[in-house]
Amino acid sequence: MKLWGGRFSKETASLVDDFNASIEFDQKLYKHDIHGSIAHAKMLAKQNIISNQDAEIIIKSLYEILKDIEKGDIEFSIDLEDIHMNIEKLLIDRIGDIGKKLHTARSRNDQVAVDIKLYFKESLCDIQNLIKNLLNVLIEIAEDNIETILPGYTHLQRAQPITLGYHIMAYFQMFLRDYNRLSDCYNRMNYLPLGAGALAGTTYETDRYFLAKELGFAGICDNGMDAVSDRDYVIEFISDASICMMHLSRFCEELILWSTSEFSFVEMDDAYSTGSSIMPQKKNPDLAELIRGKTGRVYGNLMNILTIMKALPLAYNKDMQEDKPPLFDTVETIKNSLAIFIEMIRTMKINKDKMYSAAKTGFMNATDAADYLVSKGIPFRECHAIIGRMVLYCIQNGKAIEELSLNELKSFSELFDTDIYDKIDIICCIEAKKSIGSTSKKSVKLMIKQAKEKLEKIN
Ligand code: ARG
Repeated sequence: MKLWGGRFSKETASLVDDFNASIEFDQKLYKHDIHGSIAHAKMLAKQNIISNQDAEIIIKSLYEILKDIEKGDIEFSIDLEDIHMNIEKLLIDRIGDIGKKLHTARSRNDQVAVDIKLYFKESLCDIQNLIKNLLNVLIEIAEDNIETILPGYTHLQRAQPITLGYHIMAYFQMFLRDYNRLSDCYNRMNYLPLGAGALAGTTYETDRYFLAKELGFAGICDNGMDAVSDRDYVIEFISDASICMMHLSRFCEELILWSTSEFSFVEMDDAYSTGSSIMPQKKNPDLAELIRGKTGRVYGNLMNILTIMKALPLAYNKDMQEDKPPLFDTVETIKNSLAIFIEMIRTMKINKDKMYSAAKTGFMNATDAADYLVSKGIPFRECHAIIGRMVLYCIQNGKAIEELSLNELKSFSELFDTDIYDKIDIICCIEAKKSIGSTSKKSVKLMIKQAKEKLEKIN
């Protein structure tokens, strides 16, 4: 008979058992369920709801069950629906009636909520550590490439010369925001749902503050109904994960592009690329492509959980059991993607020469040539038009701006003088950027220094 079978006069149909069960996926929560139960048993004893002796027996047996699960000695049963019932049944089988006391002042509704939150706290920590590793690797790459020049793009058209250090530090900012978003999510969810009972609270003199402390929560959920029916943190986490995956995906897209023979800006290490089954010459950036692809999977998980929660009346509804597959999948996907990505960029080869020669073409010093005329007193709009005509002339004559003779330059404006050549030299174009947060070496150095300070603070 089911642990809840008293009110029923028939067994459930076997099709229902399979459909209703979540053990296949929620067994992942075994450790969190056991730790939640141990804290609960301690609290029950402290509050004289069960005896100290019973609590000791329960706790000892729960630890043994934990060990046995970890050894792989336990086979979970679909008939027992979920991880909570499976563990409770194991306990009862091992210690008899005393085991039946554990579920006093508790419902599976607050139990599952606390289990997910415990799993969540652990997973968030793992993910944040990975992001921290990524941030450190980005700083290393940026520091090594403060002087590596490449084209900066808008509309994927060559726009202005920048350094790779600058480009990489843009990603640093993005991933730092991801890190902080996860901290916000953590701080908002870090309240204990256990003790809410099924929805209305319990009739026992429980001590929820004790439980919160035991299980490492900052406080308790103030409203029991909210405690058991809230999955905002799952939604929030998967949204945060979606943004982080989007950042990874944008970066991967650039690396895929940069790995083409047309760009050849980077080359992935052999250990982080794959070959083709038919074309012997191929070396494909599959991992970057896969991370880009897996982003879609995380977005799907977000839609999944948002749709599950939409229109659910208070409080617990069985629909909410479906929160776990998208949550677990997101945690796994983002962890694996980050781990692979970190190693992939750490080991990739950067072709500085290719980047530099690409930056030499495409008239990327055109804005600087216009700025030169501004310094001679011409309004910017007019300079823009003059240089525009000059670029057209260059295209028609197959020349770069810096290849024009002074006479040619003067045919566009009398104000050009020999000092123009310095001003439109690619390194000068970069170093002339004075605004804070720009691509100049001085600015990128400062950016890296500030980034290190920020990293220290979150370490
Ligand atoms: N397996 C369920 C879940 O994951 C546990 C809660 C069941 N509660 C209930 N009232 N049936 O949501």
